[in-house]
Amino acid sequence: MANILIKNIKGLGGILKENNTPLRGKEMANFDTISDAFLAIEDGEISMYGPMSELAGVIDWNNLEVIDAEGKYVLPAFCDSHTHIVFAKTREDEFVDRIKGLSYEEIGKKGGGILNSARKLADMPEEELVADAMKRLALIKAHGTGAVEIKSGYGLSVAAELKMLRVIKTLKAQSDLTIKATFLGAHAFPMEYKENQDAYVDLVINEMLPIIAEENLADYIDVFCERNYFTPEQLDRILAAGVAAGLKPKIHVNQFSVLGGVGIGVKHGAVSVDHLEELDDNDINELKNSKTIATALPSCSFFLNIPYSPVLKMLENDIAVALATDYNPGSTPSGNMQFVNSLACVKMRMTPNQALNATTINGAHAMEMGSELGSITVGKKANIIITKEIPSLDYIPYSFGENVVEQTLLF
Ligand code: NIG
Ligand code: FE
Repeated sequence: MANILIKNIKGLGGILKENNTPLRGKEMANFDTISDAFLAIEDGEISMYGPMSELAGVIDWNNLEVIDAEGKYVLPAFCDSHTHIVFAKTREDEFVDRIKGLSYEEIGKKGGGILNSARKLADMPEEELVADAMKRLALIKAHGTGAVEIKSGYGLSVAAELKMLRVIKTLKAQSDLTIKATFLGAHAFPMEYKENQDAYVDLVINEMLPIIAEENLADYIDVFCERNYFTPEQLDRILAAGVAAGLKPKIHVNQFSVLGGVGIGVKHGAVSVDHLEELDDNDINELKNSKTIATALPSCSFFLNIPYSPVLKMLENDIAVALATDYNPGSTPSGNMQFVNSLACVKMRMTPNQALNATTINGAHAMEMGSELGSITVGKKANIIITKEIPSLDYIPYSFGENVVEQTLLF
């Protein structure tokens, strides 16, 4: 592998001197940047960086590919820690139904929503699911994403959940993005379990989980804990079984209501609790005293027209906040992390620096990749974004809807 030198970088952002824990509260204010900088990459790893004035004499110019980044910024590639990128069909018909007045929850109750996606996925061959997901991965890479978590959850039967997780396994092998897989069998109750929901929980725990653990098909376990979906008691049971099978929790909680799922996640050592559009003081206290990352999904709030997560309150309480897209066909048909940065600033009043930290280093930690990805640190993978010529880093969230990424380099 040729070594690479990126020179004349207008601003090299996201520098962290050493390996680290997630940034909490006040620590998120600073996105350390060097102006007029260079970055050296050896065997796909960051080997050196600094101001251009210090470049002379420290670089071996043999066997070196040189990229001139005059006028451009370099920063860590985005780490999108919550997506549902494997799905069969888009759902713009439901989007139109919502415009006409139906709510997301009402569409779900009528057998649309997640069950709609499950019906479509059951019929789709594995190779087609892979091909479509690969296109989506190419699209998010073009917008600056280098690492992504992908959930199952549109299977909802033993065969189809396994099919989804095998698709994700193939994506891990074929894609140059770093991918983590999450088992979300408890995403919705199939129609046939409507009158006996605990029997579906039994199926998840006793039939799906053992095969998934045995075949090593998932890194994490997820549950959609919400009214009309999985209860806190069911969440508790499934997480206990998941943890016993070696899967750490990353869960959907508090999208529409506060049911106590945050505390249950924390109790089971969740890596992250995600959504949090609704949050009470108990939840804040649970998160404050834990290592669990709070992940907000502002594109989902935008698209469903629901409240945004109270991120400033979390930051005041020194909680580690990550931001992700939630890319899925129902609530968030977008995997654009630049738009997530814009929404975080405009709708949740994060500063551009806080939003960049939440979409890079804290996103990496929300996939347990914080010691390998998510910052400009010597020894980390050199997975980076080179922007187009832009005036400043603040321009990234400011210029919403524009793709400022020229190139995403992944190793
Ligand atoms: O995170 N809320 C649960 N799951 C997804 C949406 C799934 C869908 O509508 O297809 C979410 O928003
Ligand atoms: Fe989700």
